Amino acid sequence: MTETTGASPLAPEWLAVPSDLNALHAPMWAAGVERNDGGELAIDGIPVSELKAQFGSPLFVMSETDFRARARAFKDAFDAAFEDICGGVDVYYAGKSFLCTAVASWVAEEGLRLDTCSGGELAVAARAGIDGANLGLHGNNKSDAEINRALDMKLGRIVVDSLDELERVAKIASGRGEVAKVMLRLTPGVHAHTHEFIATAHEDQKFGLSMAGDSTEEAGLSAAEEAVAAATAYDSVELLGLHCHIGSQIFEPEGFALAAEKLLTFLAAMQSKYSITLPELDLGGGYGIAYTPVDTPRPAAEIAQAMAAVVRSTCAQLGITSPRISIEPGRAIVGSSTFTLYEVGTLKTVRVDAPEAAGAAENVTFPRRYVSVDGGMSDNARPVLYDADYSAVLASRTTLAEPQLSRVVGKHCESGDIVVRDVYLPADVAAGDLLAVPGTGAYCWALSSNYNYLARPGVVAVRGGTARWIVRGETEEDLLNRDMGVANV
Ligand code: LLP
Repeated sequence: MTETTGASPLAPEWLAVPSDLNALHAPMWAAGVERNDGGELAIDGIPVSELKAQFGSPLFVMSETDFRARARAFKDAFDAAFEDICGGVDVYYAGKSFLCTAVASWVAEEGLRLDTCSGGELAVAARAGIDGANLGLHGNNKSDAEINRALDMKLGRIVVDSLDELERVAKIASGRGEVAKVMLRLTPGVHAHTHEFIATAHEDQKFGLSMAGDSTEEAGLSAAEEAVAAATAYDSVELLGLHCHIGSQIFEPEGFALAAEKLLTFLAAMQSKYSITLPELDLGGGYGIAYTPVDTPRPAAEIAQAMAAVVRSTCAQLGITSPRISIEPGRAIVGSSTFTLYEVGTLKTVRVDAPEAAGAAENVTFPRRYVSVDGGMSDNARPVLYDADYSAVLASRTTLAEPQLSRVVGKHCESGDIVVRDVYLPADVAAGDLLAVPGTGAYCWALSSNYNYLARPGVVAVRGGTARWIVRGETEEDLLNRDMGVANV
């Protein structure tokens, strides 16, 4: 049957039929992941069947070596590019992408700082023994308790998101007889995603202080400027500088560069108008990774150099000394360090009309195979939430079988429960096989849930040929722990 060997009309245009189904597309995988002599996927020499036997599935399998290398690579690339501009860059790992105490400690050991966005993330940082000076706190709706906690921990920066919050932080710090170190999160009107960015004057989103001139009651002053003026006036606030974050999964440097230019121009204007110095500028995160073979992220050095060139020339043009630059990458450090290991269960094939655009004859149907695995949207919500594409390989063995267009789905009671929407997998994939989905280090475990009372998978870290839990998997007992039981009804 030719329809299983060639490109399926049901496949999206970007998805090519792989010439070798056993091959691994290197940019999607952590260093140290390869097929062993027996054809099985292995990480640091540990075959996936061993991981499955020891830790179960689904399982997040993370290379500590890869995580550390990417963290260090970001720091080195940005330090090198900005050395002559501001003496280097402070890299804050965005903990929201994936955080546990082990990861927090690796981040510190590699010379990075940590960006948090809740009291819970601060608790992890505290447990890992991270110095408060190396922590930032984000969030558009920080509670008083979170602000107090930040002050208790003597945080290096609280990134204030609104005029309301600025007042609250100032009041709380003043009540404690302390001075809060504050950055202001601005919305520069630049939104970027993958290869494109858009620039608009106005912002219609919950985050940040608008830079558009007419957005507040104070005639002519933007919310951003009002915040600068107010922060400067408070005795209990030390205004360190400005912050922006323009989006996620960004491949091209232009959006970052435009945002840098806009913020520097504003920073220079504020410095001169209010006779202040704003020593810091944070350009946020958002650096993209390869989820599928068509994703082509740029190396950190290339992005760093492009951003440095704009910061250098803009500062020269404005006649200002560059503030100390910081960035907040999450996904680009942790995303590719991890794959998810699943076991295949039920398989079924349906026949589907080809989309009109595929140009197939009417009344001709094509097969789509559904491959069910033992996890799903509870361990990777990104396909459901963002239509995110992933890839997958047969991990427990190699095969010479033909490629077959497949949809990897979870075990949840929800038809949208898709893990990999479209992927060519070997036609002989069968129950009991192990599948690996790469690129699941960021925003997968972090967004995981207990939907349908599935226990959330744990995370195993591999280093130097040994694997150990850094977050153990949940048990049924964990699931029932908070249920108060029938005695309380
Ligand atoms: N800094 C700030 C202020 C952020 O809001 C974010 C992400 C980051 C840094 C890190 O961005 P990254 O380098 O990891 O792209 N759940 C979505 C992404 C949400 C991102 C939220 N903010 C996803 O899975 O695609």
